[in-house]
Amino acid sequence: MNRSITATEICKSFGARTVLNGIDLDIQKGEIFGLLGPSGAGKTTLIKILTGQIAQDSGTAAINGNDSRKLSGDDRKRFGITMDNFGVYERLSCYDNLKIIAGIYGVGKAEIMNALRKVGLEEAAKTPAGKLSKGMTVRLKLARAFMSDPDVLFLDEPTSGLDPVSAEEIHRMILAEKQRGKTVFLTTHTMTEAEKLCDNIALLSEGRIVEYGRPCEICRRYDHQRRLRIHLTDGNDIEIPHDKDAADMLSELIISGRAETIHTTEPDLETVFMEITGKELSA
Ligand SMILES: Nc1ncnc2c1ncn2[C@@H]1O[C@H](COP(=O)(O)OP(=O)(O)OP(=O)(O)O)[C@@H](O)[C@H]1O
Ligand SMILES: [Mg+2]
Repeated sequence: MNRSITATEICKSFGARTVLNGIDLDIQKGEIFGLLGPSGAGKTTLIKILTGQIAQDSGTAAINGNDSRKLSGDDRKRFGITMDNFGVYERLSCYDNLKIIAGIYGVGKAEIMNALRKVGLEEAAKTPAGKLSKGMTVRLKLARAFMSDPDVLFLDEPTSGLDPVSAEEIHRMILAEKQRGKTVFLTTHTMTEAEKLCDNIALLSEGRIVEYGRPCEICRRYDHQRRLRIHLTDGNDIEIPHDKDAADMLSELIISGRAETIHTTEPDLETVFMEITGKELSA
């Protein structure tokens, strides 16, 4: 069985507000899946439902084939989570922060040190968590998610508020987990992050998944203009329709050495999302 995370017709309301209104997901093992959507769209709510932290009103969810509403302790060891509301104990060392959770998972010193090594915090094992930089704090939270060497990782906005270098370090760690065959369920407000990391993404808006697929595939779907942009060696840019008539012009520009770069003009994810929802993704 290659399925890692599934959701069928998940609905969830808080009072009169319907947050999720029929969510279907089918995430394969070894995939990095990105859930995108404006603030308040229900991304964190969906992670909480999938991981059994809250119950859906209707529909079914499962991780590794196990119903999210009936997860055993062993089932829970097979996934790791980082979320904003999972804080760190600032006065405790990195090691002791993990030790608390290690008890729950039934893992020991070797696993704690392994997790710290994986996120590059081995040398900070004795440092109080309150003294860590923002990037290091995120890495400590990741170490906690890594500790039971789970098959599936749920990372809720793991790079939120980080500088580009720290975010890049987190990206490397996420990609390393994928290399090891792990499944990653990620939420992000950063489109470049989604484009770079995710095999598939879903755009969540008004309680529904309004687009799904590979990031570049989705962008191509919204390429209404179908044009080519050519940067010429004289410094000018020209745009021509991307049709059969383009062939002659392109060959002439290439043969005469006047074409420096040639690009298609499909929109980026941010633009696609704006078109679909009329809202900015990062709003
Ligand atoms: N326990 C709760 N009680 C009442 N309303 C809630 C609760 N949890 C979430 N909500 C509401 O559900 C909606 C979705 O919230 P959620 O945190 O899932 O959004 P999100 O997509 O993760 O947003 P963000 O990008 O800001 O993290 C919001 O309107 C929020 O106020
Ligand atoms: Mg959230």
